[in-house]
Formats: sequence, C-alpha cells, structure tokens
Amino acid sequence: MEIRKLPSESPLPLDLLLSADPSEKLVKDYVKRGQCYIAEADRQIIGVYVLIPTRPETAELVNIAVTEEWQGKGIGKALIKHALQTAKSQGFKTIEIGTGNSSISQLALYQKCGFRITGVDRDFFIRHYQEPIYENGIACIDMIRLSMDI
Ligand code: COA
Repeated sequence: MEIRKLPSESPLPLDLLLSADPSEKLVKDYVKRGQCYIAEADRQIIGVYVLIPTRPETAELVNIAVTEEWQGKGIGKALIKHALQTAKSQGFKTIEIGTGNSSISQLALYQKCGFRITGVDRDFFIRHYQEPIYENGIACIDMIRLSMDI
C-alpha cells in the first residue's frame, strides 16, 4: 500500500469521498480548498483523505475514507498517521477532525489515534444536509469536534 498526493489533473475518487460525506457540494468545496491524498494497492485507489488549512497553524483532516473491502485492516489509521506527518512537515501545529455524534467507530478510531474531543457543533447536520442521516440506529445531528497538537 502506498500513500501519495493526488495530482491536481487526476479525476477525483468521488464515490469514496462521498462515503465519508454525502454532500457532493461540500466534498468538491473541500477538495478545492485542500490537498487530496490517496492510498493505492494493486494500482487501485483504496483510501483517501483531504487536508485543508483552516486557521493560522491549524489544518483540518476531512473526508477520510477506505473502500469497504479494505476496511478494518489498518488503512484508516495509516492515512491518519500520514496526514499528521504531512501537516507537521508543512508547519501546522494543530490538526482538527470532526465527525457525527452517530459515527461510533470513527469516534473510536480518532481517539485511538490521539485526538481529543474539544467541542460539539450542535445541529451541524441539520443545518448543512437536506436528508436525515442515521447510523448505528442513532440520528446524526451534531458534529463532534476533535483536535490534536502535532
Ligand atoms: N469500538 C472500539 N474501537 C473501534 C470500534 C468500536 N466500535 N470501531 C472501530 N474501532 C477501531 C478498530 O478496532 C481499529 O483500531 P485498532 O487497530 O486499535 O483495533 C480502528 O478503529 C479502525 O482502524 P482501521 O482499520 O485503520 O480503519 P479503517 O481502515 O476501517 O478506516 C474509516 C476507518 C472510518 C476511514 C472507514 O471505516 C471508512 O471509510 N468509513 C466510511 C467513511 C467514513 O465514515 N469516513 C469518516 C467520516 S467522519
């Protein structure tokens, strides 16, 4: 498995990006503002993440996703580790990430990687998404914000 920056002229792995965020508008906006990295195995894209500069010395990791057949094999953790190293090498001091209140495994993964909860953006998913989102039998309403100093 190799992780590399997606050249700007290459087509986006849109289906994979949308598995992390159902809003095509938000996904395209994130990609325009940030740098998109992909994980490849057997010349197939199996993972993706986008790193966006947000405030001075702060970047946000968005749209992290791994194809279903490769999930649970450590690729998500490897992408997060790569994102932390990339952000650090570019001079960022803090990295942030956000996920839904219903995204139980994502909340577990991010905390296992060292992120700590900093706050809750209440009603984020009501404000930004037309369709209701349910995961693990829980309505996705609030965004849990996490961060890590790097
Ligand atoms: N309780 C405790 N730990 C849990 C858990 C739970 N309910 N669910 C998952 N985990 C842990 C696993 O045990 C593992 O940690 P470990 O290696 O210490 O055992 C870790 O989370 C998963 O790691 P990994 O295999 O690297 O993740 P992955 O390759 O499956 O990728 C996602 C994770 C989230 C990127 C992937 O599931 C995905 O693409 N999901 C769809 C898109 C998405 O939701 N993106 C995030 C948007 S916020």
